[in-house]
Amino acid sequence: MRVIRSLLLLLGCSSAATAVLQDKLQPRSTLDTIEQELEAELLGVVDCAGCHAALGLLKLLAVFGDSAFSDVLADLCTLSKAEDADVCKGILEREGPIIAQRVRALDLDSDSSQLFCTTFLGVCSYPDIRPFPVKLSQKPANVVRPAVSGQTPIKVVHYSDIHVDPFYEAGSNYNCTKPICCRPYADSDAPGKTSFPAGPNGEHTCDAPISLEESMYAAIRSVAPDAAFALFTGDIVDHAIWNTTQAQNVLDINDAYSRMAASGLPLVFGTAGNHESNPTNAYETAAQGSQAQWVYDALNANWAKWFGSGTDNAVEKMGAYNAAYTSPAGGKLRVINLNTNLYYIDNFYLYEEPMELDPSGQWAWLVAQLDAAEKAGDRVYIIGHMPMGVSDAFREASNFFDQIVNRYQDTIAAMFFGHTHADHFQLSYSDYSAQSFTNAVAMSYIVPSLTPTSGMPAFRIYTVDPVTFAVLDAETYIADTSDPSFQTASPVWKKYYSAKAAYGPLVQPPVAADDAAAELSPAFWHNVTAALAADQAAFDAYYARKSRGWAVSACTGDCVTNEICALRAARSQDNCAVLQPGLHFAKRAAEAEAVGANGMKRHRDECGVPVAREALAALATKDGLGLLRRRVQEGVRAGRL
Ligand SMILES: *[C@@H]1O[C@H](CO)[C@@H](O)[C@H](O)[C@H]1NC(C)=O
Ligand SMILES: *[C@@H]1O[C@H](CO)[C@@H](O)[C@H](O)[C@H]1NC(C)=O
Ligand SMILES: *[C@@H]1O[C@H](CO)[C@@H](O)[C@H](O)[C@H]1NC(C)=O
Repeated sequence: MRVIRSLLLLLGCSSAATAVLQDKLQPRSTLDTIEQELEAELLGVVDCAGCHAALGLLKLLAVFGDSAFSDVLADLCTLSKAEDADVCKGILEREGPIIAQRVRALDLDSDSSQLFCTTFLGVCSYPDIRPFPVKLSQKPANVVRPAVSGQTPIKVVHYSDIHVDPFYEAGSNYNCTKPICCRPYADSDAPGKTSFPAGPNGEHTCDAPISLEESMYAAIRSVAPDAAFALFTGDIVDHAIWNTTQAQNVLDINDAYSRMAASGLPLVFGTAGNHESNPTNAYETAAQGSQAQWVYDALNANWAKWFGSGTDNAVEKMGAYNAAYTSPAGGKLRVINLNTNLYYIDNFYLYEEPMELDPSGQWAWLVAQLDAAEKAGDRVYIIGHMPMGVSDAFREASNFFDQIVNRYQDTIAAMFFGHTHADHFQLSYSDYSAQSFTNAVAMSYIVPSLTPTSGMPAFRIYTVDPVTFAVLDAETYIADTSDPSFQTASPVWKKYYSAKAAYGPLVQPPVAADDAAAELSPAFWHNVTAALAADQAAFDAYYARKSRGWAVSACTGDCVTNEICALRAARSQDNCAVLQPGLHFAKRAAEAEAVGANGMKRHRDECGVPVAREALAALATKDGLGLLRRRVQEGVRAGRL
């Protein structure tokens, strides 16, 4: 017993936490007793106390060293059947050391530990949200949301999550067991050897081949030759996250931006996706170090092609910027790019003691940028990779962002994100407990992905007021992979739907498809959610659009309620996602089991294969916890402590 106690104290556990653990581990005479206790008591980690006990074991393991830690996590990953053993190994080799470093420093009874348990094991409640660290000024009385100007609109392009796979090989196996296929992983996967040969232009089990990417840029140029600018909300690098290197990611980033430029896109405002970094998702904050500086440097170098000198480059150390656009009608827009990786739950660097309130000072920076825009009377688009209302966003960060959006609601014309690969949206409210069209204050457009892993490849064209930059329509285009010519000729891109035509007739008073001047305002979109909630047929059509008609599942009853709730939650604490022990969120677990229409494993993850998360979640199973326990015991017996 004293061994455990002194070990835990030695490892930095507070005495309170150690006491809790000891109570949990009664009668705690030896490590064997721990085993019996946990076995008797737990079917894996089922509650918060159990998570703290497991975290204690993880801490013990982490002091054996990074590679021992990564090995055990890789075994947990394999055990969870999340991925093939080589995939587990590759990912944990990359991400394991970061997790080990953070776990070693976690204090067992801190908010950060609690958050760790909540995020990765789905147990414990979220820690309390701390006070927002940046002072917000009072909104001047004369600042109001402007009415549409009625002037000739401009076109704005939006695309995201291109996930281009440079190693895509036509003819290779598209029916594999890895996160992405269409690569000759084994001889039997090679062209000519497999009975599942990939077409040249993309498969739903694979990331985008270059031909698909180039066909999208050509389609954009063809349907919107006069587009004013494009918003690209990130994720260039493929999902082979067990095999990433910094050098390859830089190549991928440069190649993708070169192809965008070569296609003739006029001006592209980009942002950093979680896949741009190596290891995937890993972005140190400015206070922690400069691990991600090479990503920012690569992105800045490419962005400079379009707006080098017009950008606020004071922030190139955090992958954010504020760039300007002036329309032919004289409207002034500031495109503020937020680095959302600093609020992403799978960025393991962020689990610190204590968690940073304002990572890299980005909140303070954002507030200053918005304040300057408000004073100048300019309009603002906020762009970022991860929509801030998803459960992938830390609740506290999402809450802080929401406070900023509420303060500057009349200056922010709209917000644009990607990451989820799905076609949906999120509304911000001034009062989430009494949501109505009168207090909906901002709209986040989430564009579906180019990569076909979660639906038909897609992009979007907005029709925009050239003075207020209000969104007047959002038209989504897709390449239908079931079209016979998709593989034989070039992907055929076609208009899939217009938001105004699809949703305008649902609200009261109705908005006609040809009512060019009507804005798709936050109030309009709130009314759309009310119409969807009240009309199953309209909801079904929305739900089918989420994946662009591909592998559509049924959604009725609670599923509808939860979906509407999520649409009304740009603040993640309000999104109705339910924590479940073992798998972080009930919704994800359901998705994990979903099988695509073609009978193949549907990709669990639309937002960056949370394999490390799955590995940790395996601790919620008896086998997972048993494995961790055995390894710690072996380590202790082998005198590695
Ligand atoms: C993929 O391969 C499995 C066997 O490994 C087979 O059962 C399944 O039908 C195949 N899927 C398709 C779409 O051919
Ligand atoms: C891993 O990435 C390298 C480039 O860094 C590439 O040459 C190799 O083919 C990739 N391996 C697999 C299994 O995809
Ligand atoms: C939203 O619906 C309300 C009725 O519930 C209506 O009064 C209001 O005009 C609608 N607003 C928009 C923009 O559709």
